[in-house]
Amino acid sequence: MTGEPVLRLRGVSKRFGAVQALSDIDLDVAAGEVVALVGDNGAGKSTLVKVIAGVGPPDTGEIRWEGRPVTIGSPAAAQSLGVATVYQDLALCDNLDVVANLFLGRELQRVGVLDEVAMERRSRDLLDTLSIKIPSVRIPVASLSGGQRQTVAISRSLLGEPKIVILDEPTAALGVEQTAQVLDLVERLRDRNLGVILISHNMVDVKAVADRVAVLRLGRNNGFFDARTTSQEQLVAAITGATDNAVTRRQARGTGEADR
Ligand SMILES: Nc1ncnc2c1ncn2[C@@H]1O[C@H](COP(=O)(O)OP(=O)(O)OP(=O)(O)O)[C@@H](O)[C@H]1O
Ligand SMILES: [Mg+2]
Repeated sequence: MTGEPVLRLRGVSKRFGAVQALSDIDLDVAAGEVVALVGDNGAGKSTLVKVIAGVGPPDTGEIRWEGRPVTIGSPAAAQSLGVATVYQDLALCDNLDVVANLFLGRELQRVGVLDEVAMERRSRDLLDTLSIKIPSVRIPVASLSGGQRQTVAISRSLLGEPKIVILDEPTAALGVEQTAQVLDLVERLRDRNLGVILISHNMVDVKAVADRVAVLRLGRNNGFFDARTTSQEQLVAAITGATDNAVTRRQARGTGEADR
């Protein structure tokens, strides 16, 4: 062990024309750790993910991977380091079945022909080890629930054997049951000693699954928090930069009911 986290960002900045999207950002992600990346709309979360995923390299700043300085100049470079990113739109092919989606672009071949048997077996093994329940790996993903689709997309990212998995709002469009399914999967990623960066606007999900919370505000770090000991209200205050808002007022009244 190097004693260093898998991924370490120091002083990362990025500007789009007049907009300073990221200023002097630090972030550490260790193996077996779920780091929630939170912040208001426009705080810079997606921009930071793109930096790590090699989609939009930073203007300045240092990225270390397992203690070594690296540049992540392309998505392929990110992938070969061991960064897997699951974007919100998932990029699944609705008309293809689960096996075809899992192996899209990296199909297994045998003497020049697709090895459907091997791909199906590996698909089942992968979903089984992640305890993902899907009626059949041979049904089109269009017929899966939103939660199941999300778990397929996350599973697919694991085929490249990443060390860090970035999940961009994986529960945003999901109901209660499906959200629980996805959060369970995030815990299994941690059990497999992966580092997970979880972008979320939902503080309940963040509290449920994250170890640490990195707050971005207006393109800057606005604190790192222990998810277990920090309240939702404290997180909201860090996100908004205000200690006085509807959530904290409601908390102060102790009603737990929505403001009226
Ligand atoms: N390609 C771009 N060109 C110009 N400005 C950009 C570009 N991408 C992002 N920005 C700006 O950078 C800032 C950070 O945007 P970013 O998308 O990273 O925020 P975010 O935290 O992901 O927000 P959201 O929660 O809405 O997804 C915003 O002011 C945004 O308008
Ligand atoms: Mg975003």
